[in-house]
Amino acid sequence: MAPEGDRLRTGVKGIDELIEGGVPEGFLVAVTGEPGCGKTVFSIHFINQGILDGDKCIYITTEESRESIMKQASQFGMNFERAVNEGRLIIVDALMGREDQWSLKSLDMEALVEKIIEAKKELGYGRARVAIDSLSAFWLDRPAMARRYSYYLKKVLSKWNFTILAVSQYAITTAESFGWGIEHIADGIIRFRRILRGGELRRFVIIEKMRQTNHSRYLHEIDIKPGVGLVVLGRVERRVEDYKLPPDVTRRILESRRKTGEIL
Ligand SMILES: Nc1ncnc2c1ncn2[C@@H]1O[C@H](COP(=O)(O)OP(=O)(O)O)[C@@H](O)[C@H]1O
Ligand SMILES: [Mg+2]
Repeated sequence: MAPEGDRLRTGVKGIDELIEGGVPEGFLVAVTGEPGCGKTVFSIHFINQGILDGDKCIYITTEESRESIMKQASQFGMNFERAVNEGRLIIVDALMGREDQWSLKSLDMEALVEKIIEAKKELGYGRARVAIDSLSAFWLDRPAMARRYSYYLKKVLSKWNFTILAVSQYAITTAESFGWGIEHIADGIIRFRRILRGGELRRFVIIEKMRQTNHSRYLHEIDIKPGVGLVVLGRVERRVEDYKLPPDVTRRILESRRKTGEIL
């Protein structure tokens, strides 16, 4: 069973079961994966659970508007609008560039941290959680700053009783510059994956890291269900390799790489 008190449930029961009940309080957890694999949906679950558990909740959205996040939440039966009206949730919109108090006009790291602290003061004393969707948006034009920025964020927010979920986008072509950053300083890494198999889109999750936790080391298949949201379907019995590219494709890639290497 989950140790009570010091772990924050993620809002997805099946994921909590992979990490001994939840994310340890005060952790910064990186959520990574390709587009459409469930990072935003997972972040919404995390914040909804915070609302249910009485935490002070902040959602930073850089890729979608505040309205889009509220609508997505409502599709899963989560009432973000009411939580906002009751002063239990602040959604900071960093996309629309509006003038209101809870918008960010530019993707500036210092402005982000200041805004989070301002929001925490507004929400009041107590345990807090923030989902930053995505954090990598703040260094899109400066990938070399990723590590310093995420370290700065973690250092400042740790003084404010925050548990942080930070979405780190990951595109295969840019993995080397974008994949790093949060992952290096994160206390936990939850990686989502999506794969086309037999003409069908399938999604998976694996806990790559969770400090202080005897976490699952197995790939699990997930689904995003209408009216429900993210659910863990079960452990993938096949090897991870089976979900990679077909062997002859891999062989051809390796071969062409070898040839390129020879030419160079
Ligand atoms: N109401 C819904 N019913 C079923 N699936 C949904 C619903 N809303 C979103 N999804 C699924 O979630 C996906 C988007 O996941 P999202 O978390 O936004 O991805 P990302 O990792 O890019 O943030 C959609 O492509 C769709 O498959
Ligand atoms: Mg997203």
